[in-house]
Amino acid sequence: MKRILSGRKRIIQRFGVMQFQAILRGSQVQSTTVTLEDVKRDILTDTLIRTGNRNLGAMGYTEHGYRHINLVSNIAQNVIKRLGFSGREVELVAIAGYMHDIGNVVNRDGHHMSGAVLAYLILKRLGMPQDEIGTVTAAIGNHDEEAGSPVNSTAAALILADKSDVHRTRVRNTDIASFDIHDRVNYAVEHSFLRAMEEDRTIILELEIDTRICPVMDYFEIFLTRMLLCRRSASFLGCRFGLQINGNKLI
Ligand SMILES: [Fe+2]
Ligand SMILES: [Fe+2]
Repeated sequence: MKRILSGRKRIIQRFGVMQFQAILRGSQVQSTTVTLEDVKRDILTDTLIRTGNRNLGAMGYTEHGYRHINLVSNIAQNVIKRLGFSGREVELVAIAGYMHDIGNVVNRDGHHMSGAVLAYLILKRLGMPQDEIGTVTAAIGNHDEEAGSPVNSTAAALILADKSDVHRTRVRNTDIASFDIHDRVNYAVEHSFLRAMEEDRTIILELEIDTRICPVMDYFEIFLTRMLLCRRSASFLGCRFGLQINGNKLI
């Protein structure tokens, strides 16, 4: 009895009396403004991020942890801000960027869809309004190049930010001799920047690649599908997508 009461006390402290009563009735928690900081403080989200990244490490994948998700969150925010979107839309894309890879905890295959379902449950528990949950989960569920589409502006910015994170610092394999093509391409990229320009409605991915490590063709071999999805995403945002490698405009 004592343990139940202390549990109730903790829930009341976290959500307030009204929310607690709603939980007891089994009804929906009252909507509240959920911020990126709220999501970062959520213990389950944090566990999913860390475990998912560890699982991918065991499979030989590049880094998908705090470095990647914070970078994607920041790049997506920057794109949305520069194209003139509002404060709340910036916050939603920041949340989608931070949560987009949590599905890796379930399996890499279909991680976009499992991630969307997990995000739905977490954001509902945190009290996010239903329409905003719909926006964020649609963005997460559509960020993968195999089955994704820029279904809303949050999804479009998330796709552009996620696909632009190709960089040396993502490679976890320390044995260069055993690099696969993904390691080689990521390791060769010394600089990447996604430049969104509102004036001429252009989004350019600028890369500096050390061609002694991998030829530019290797980049296209594994990332052509991603670049095509980036082009569709930029188009959804009313922009033209461009790719610039070592100062040369390629598309
Ligand atoms: Fe992903
Ligand atoms: Fe990602």
